Amino acid sequence: MNASGRETTNSVSHFILLGFPSSPEMQLLFFGLFSVTYTLTLMGNAAIACAVWWDRRLHTPMYILLGNFSFLEMCYVSTTVPNMLANFLSTSKSISFVGCFMQFYFFFSFGCDEGFYLCIMAFDRYLAICRPLHYPRIMTKELYTGLIIFGWSCGFILFLTPVVLISQLPYCGPNTINHFICDPVPLMMLSCSEDTTTKFIYSTFNAILMTGTFLFVLCSYALVILTVLRMPSAASKRKAFSTCASHLAVVVLFFAPLMVIYVIPGLGHPAKTQKFVTLFYSVVTPLCNPLIYSLRNKEMKAALKKIFRTAEDTHRI
Ligand SMILES: *[C@@H]1O[C@H](CO)[C@@H](O)[C@H](O)[C@H]1NC(C)=O
Repeated sequence: MNASGRETTNSVSHFILLGFPSSPEMQLLFFGLFSVTYTLTLMGNAAIACAVWWDRRLHTPMYILLGNFSFLEMCYVSTTVPNMLANFLSTSKSISFVGCFMQFYFFFSFGCDEGFYLCIMAFDRYLAICRPLHYPRIMTKELYTGLIIFGWSCGFILFLTPVVLISQLPYCGPNTINHFICDPVPLMMLSCSEDTTTKFIYSTFNAILMTGTFLFVLCSYALVILTVLRMPSAASKRKAFSTCASHLAVVVLFFAPLMVIYVIPGLGHPAKTQKFVTLFYSVVTPLCNPLIYSLRNKEMKAALKKIFRTAEDTHRI
């Protein structure tokens, strides 16, 4: 409590992340479950990134983008899950003011980068399938390197504004966030400011960003599918389709939960739904991506097998 009773500036030095309130046994169970999921996610994505890194046959724009995407996923899950794990074992479940906004910034910046990556990957597939003759001339090393740098930096630049705006709001009262990450929506609800401008700016910003990337990806794949359907040979049709099917599966996994939570009904979601959907895109999606790509793709499978065989051989020697 503050001695002066009412403070206009921040009197909150830390936040409490409620997580998933339950018995201590359940917390332990959650801890085990999420530790396993996290380890599998890191291993799966690392395997893909290493396969692309080491296998010369995978040094094509599509796989280099995919390798970077897997690496990005590892960064993305690492902004939330380690803190979640610590909170399952902790009784205080607190996170510092700065830590909270750092998590918000990094989690959403990486998430935004993923959205841009999906756009870049869709653009790459569009060029390769709809403009095959011009593809090698357009998708040069310079272009995809530029796109990769753009993809990595964009989220970090764009999310500076919302993080600064939301952290400047006055926080003077309750500091308990009914969530397992520092999500901006429950954070803004804790602010004692009556001003709704920041909320409005943030939801508009999100809506534009998400619908923009979503429409871009959607249109690219719509064009791809139209082209594939018009292909004369069944074999080339099947090959093009199987590559795009895995890309599309990842796109759906990425965008479906985001659309549900942020765009469609706006800011007033019950905490339970919000947590469940966030859990989906922060934990489940990154786990599924490597599975989708490695199970559906012959070249990736061969490269992964090669890595594991080499590892085995070195072990034997
Ligand atoms: C990511 O992109 C860079 C730049 O083109 C590339 O050199 C690197 O190999 C890629 N990383 C992975 C893991 O594919």
